[in-house]
Amino acid sequence: MCGIFAYLNYNVNKERRYILQVLFNGLRRLEYRGYDSAGVSIDSSSSDNSSSSSSQNYIFSPPPLVFRREGNIESLVKSVYQEVSETDLNLEESFSIHAGIAHTRWATHGEPAPRNSHPQSSGDGNEFLVVHNGVITNYEVLKETLVRHGFTFESETDTEVIPKLAKFVFDKANEEDDQTVTFSQVVLEVMRHLEGAYALIFKSRHYPNELIACKRGSPLLLGVKELMEGGSNGSAFHDEKFLSKNDFPKELFLSSDANALVEHTKKVLVIEDGEVVHLKDGGVSILKFDNDKGKHGRSLSRPASVQRALSVLEMEVEQINKGNYEHYMQKEIHEQPESLKTTMRGRLIRGGSCKAKTVLLGGLKDHLKTIRRSRRIVFIGCGTSYNAALAARPILEELSGVPVTMEIASDLLDRQGPIYREDTAVFVSQSGETADTLLALEYALENGALCVGITNTVGSAIARHTHCGIHINAGCEIGVASTKAYTSQIVVMAMLALAIGGDTISNQARREAVIDGLFDLPNNVREVLKLDQEMKDLAKLLVAEQSLLVFGRGYNYATALEGALKVKEVALMHSEGILAGEMKHGPLALVDENLPIVVIATRDACFSKQQSVIQQLHARKGRLIVMCSKGDANAVCLGGSCRIIEVPQVEDCLQPVVNIIPLQLLAYHLTVLRGFNVDQPRNLAKSVTTQ
Ligand code: F6R
Repeated sequence: MCGIFAYLNYNVNKERRYILQVLFNGLRRLEYRGYDSAGVSIDSSSSDNSSSSSSQNYIFSPPPLVFRREGNIESLVKSVYQEVSETDLNLEESFSIHAGIAHTRWATHGEPAPRNSHPQSSGDGNEFLVVHNGVITNYEVLKETLVRHGFTFESETDTEVIPKLAKFVFDKANEEDDQTVTFSQVVLEVMRHLEGAYALIFKSRHYPNELIACKRGSPLLLGVKELMEGGSNGSAFHDEKFLSKNDFPKELFLSSDANALVEHTKKVLVIEDGEVVHLKDGGVSILKFDNDKGKHGRSLSRPASVQRALSVLEMEVEQINKGNYEHYMQKEIHEQPESLKTTMRGRLIRGGSCKAKTVLLGGLKDHLKTIRRSRRIVFIGCGTSYNAALAARPILEELSGVPVTMEIASDLLDRQGPIYREDTAVFVSQSGETADTLLALEYALENGALCVGITNTVGSAIARHTHCGIHINAGCEIGVASTKAYTSQIVVMAMLALAIGGDTISNQARREAVIDGLFDLPNNVREVLKLDQEMKDLAKLLVAEQSLLVFGRGYNYATALEGALKVKEVALMHSEGILAGEMKHGPLALVDENLPIVVIATRDACFSKQQSVIQQLHARKGRLIVMCSKGDANAVCLGGSCRIIEVPQVEDCLQPVVNIIPLQLLAYHLTVLRGFNVDQPRNLAKSVTTQ
């Protein structure tokens, strides 16, 4: 939900054309976070040539240029080059220092339109410009105050109060004759008034060549690339504490996530809540509010200067490219044999001297006893992550003997449902940033539960704020519709079940079967991916349909929900996952010879019940597509007419990992055939950082 990006080159000559390219590429990498409008701000001329000075306020550098556009990044790029060609702006003009900011938007306040796009401005002259990811909850009160002080507002966004507040603070300091108010003092004062969640980057013509980034709640990273004389990318970080000023030529980047940094540098700082990061004169200084938060997340304490070490990204550029695939979703579906291996690597042990089969989850080792003694385990998540937890619930109940309940994060919060000190609350989230899940985590922490995080994002808010957790290590997922993260989440939760369930004689055979099943899973997934063409053919048959039902039960109730969610969100076709046991209690009324129905009837304890469901659907002339275990076509078709999808049979609790793949492929092909954008479904964004 919104991506922010900034680029500052210091002591290294860069042409305007190059600066724009870096900003646009940054936005392209973040586009999955929102794609209904975009904008950039760059300098109109080099401040080296102007009369500006950062120590003397009110001596302006020329106003920064702002370009904003409704639509995706490519519309912005086109319109910027169009505007440039119509003016005398020189793309070859060179800047030895330049600070540019950029934004891609998923609208929350105000329709997608240039006036609601970012950067948002303090007003004429663009004295302060801001790009924002998050939501300012007290913006109406701030707006009223600013209007009383003579400010006029152009947009319907919550963000516009921020640059205006910065101008207000700056003007006030100058009226009081404080000619030395620094950029970070202005931003610190602004932060004191903001409530809600945000990651912000500020640019100002009063402080040319400087940028300020700060955050509370939403993610933000700094990337540092120091260039030795001659331009090679050398290592000038003698102590990994690049926080002091030096004159080495360098490039600094700010980004909502690592995807937009990895092609430039792997040296990053994950900015923490309450930190204000000031890029100035080749240095990076950080001030931090301590944890003393106001009632609504306002910063009340005095900030102190902090030193932070850079970390090294464990990510390769290839991970964020499409390779030979046409779409990220397609690539990510086909990556699953590998992503599952990575998820299990070093965690599953088979063989050795005692021939034991076991699971090692380092992130949980100090908490396993407490989890085993919990009164219950509560899974909490949204969307696909919730579905993954639902798929893993039966094996966790079976192996641990602890009751497992399910909570959709927003519903738990709406009800203020009971969470106890004796509970273990497991937060499942690929992004680790989903607002509803984060708020539910805050709620569970307040109620004293042990909180476990399962995320795909190292350093994410959920990873940081839970007591312990497991990274799913599925690799970067860029397609907005989750595919490989889903299957890796299920595998992580199956390993969690093995880790919690004691190694007793009575469950030994089952444990070993599950572990063997996990080892074999990547091969079985490779096998089921061969159904690609078959799913494409099925998609051709269904392309013009209005609606699709998916029936599942037991382990595969989650598969029905998740398969239907995939079809709905990318192919924009109505689709509903239905618990087959509920069929007679309503959904049967929909059945006729036209409505396509997928029935999941792979072999497990529910198989005979699914056979009976199929018979009842045949009796109503249902148009059936049955997913069954290899060799079971006759056993499921039962003499009626149906289209069959045969999948490899695996251990029952792992079958959802295999079964979802044909449905992911079906959703993908339906989307392509229907002519929709696979990777950027209408109205959606990858990480939903507002409630
Ligand atoms: C659908 C999808 C969403 C997310 C949901 C929660 O394909 O990805 O349903 O699962 O928005 O996001 P995370 O898992 O990041 O908490």
